[in-house]
Amino acid sequence: MFCNKSVHLHKTLHHGQRWLAKVYQQTQAYATMFDKQRLLCGSSNQFLTCSTTTVQILTSVHVSIASSRKSYHTTCNLSSEPLLKLESSLQNEQTLTISACGQNMVIPAVWLRDHCRSPKYYNHDTQQKNADLNLLDRNLTIDSVDMTGNKSGVMVSWSDGHRSEYSVDWLLSNYYTEKPKPSTIRMLWDKAIIESHPLPVVSHYDHMTLEAGLARTVENLCKFGFAIVDGAEATEAATQEVVERITFVQETLFGKMWTFTSDAERSDTAYSTQALGPHTDLTYMSTPAGIQVFHCLKHTGKGGETLLVDGFHCMEMLHELYPEEFDLLSETEVPHEYKEKMSSTSPGYHMYSLGTVVRTHPSTEEFIQLRFNPYDRAPLNTVDATDIPAFYRAYDRLLRIISDPKGQFWIKLSPGQVLLIDNWRVMHGRAAFDGTRMMCGCYLPRDEWVSKARTMGVW
Ligand SMILES: [Fe+2]
Repeated sequence: MFCNKSVHLHKTLHHGQRWLAKVYQQTQAYATMFDKQRLLCGSSNQFLTCSTTTVQILTSVHVSIASSRKSYHTTCNLSSEPLLKLESSLQNEQTLTISACGQNMVIPAVWLRDHCRSPKYYNHDTQQKNADLNLLDRNLTIDSVDMTGNKSGVMVSWSDGHRSEYSVDWLLSNYYTEKPKPSTIRMLWDKAIIESHPLPVVSHYDHMTLEAGLARTVENLCKFGFAIVDGAEATEAATQEVVERITFVQETLFGKMWTFTSDAERSDTAYSTQALGPHTDLTYMSTPAGIQVFHCLKHTGKGGETLLVDGFHCMEMLHELYPEEFDLLSETEVPHEYKEKMSSTSPGYHMYSLGTVVRTHPSTEEFIQLRFNPYDRAPLNTVDATDIPAFYRAYDRLLRIISDPKGQFWIKLSPGQVLLIDNWRVMHGRAAFDGTRMMCGCYLPRDEWVSKARTMGVW
């Protein structure tokens, strides 16, 4: 049941030698790699996998680290002992300790009972809980714990006679200490990295007609934070068809599909000809849209190149260089707003929301979201006076990283190229332009596009 597996890990690093040392350290044990995946694969990635029925054990890892300057290749041997070693002990009948794959999980009994997957408490057809709303009233304790027959899990016997079975695989995937296991490894990038890779392009034909083509587009979004579908008709309708292969269009105050020229029809700076620095959109909404879509339908003048910056790469640099500032930006609620006067074309708006600039998973520290838009920041009234200088220092540190040309990827979009951007990760901007420029686009909702990625097995 143990499988030898070689995993190729590709990661471009700024400090290759130092990170290589970390890789050596971390590959001493399977469990440590689980715990320290950020060190291995960048802020939010990992490469170990568990099957649905058995834990797959790695006995060696081939690590290939390439930077713009140097390349390192090595094979690290992990422990030769069987790594699926399951032990359990019961403390005070209320806490179960399970050691598996070198990872200690100390699990309160109430959590185990709440997550019982027996048919009595879980409907496997609807995949919903049959919620036990009196869980705390019955003073349930664990009577005994036994290994299951194939030693891939534990059977818990409760004081009310009920029995619950939990596989190690399931516990590793779902209990607090476990890290998510993305199917697609995120490749955090700067200008040198992204320009050393082929552009994440899928042909319009493949995207529209093949499931594999659509999967490649969604996978590109997961991996790079943006994707291009090339060869579409340069119309708003064709653009909509492209994006609706992923999910429905999210209607916002700008409508569903929009086509705009530099006519200042709306009060947003996007409707001008001026340059725009990197930012994410809709920071003034409680849940900013998940994907930003651009399609340049026509441009007869100069300029107007699109700027992309990987926000997760910037977050990684901030975390590495200025950890205290990173923490501050993950804790400080920052207000953003959008105001639009009432007019013949608008009912008038005052959108306003709070959110942290950087957002990470509370237990795994996986990067979840960058919410960065200096243009739409509202008056800062959420920070105590004594903390204001520290906030501006932290925001400025991030701004300097984001503004560094070494992180900025410029691309001139042509009619037919539909650009999709993960608005929770990659920032966009543009160069000033002249002439007649017509863009169309839309937003896609976050939860639905990620759901699509999950169901396609590429999240
Ligand atoms: Fe924007």
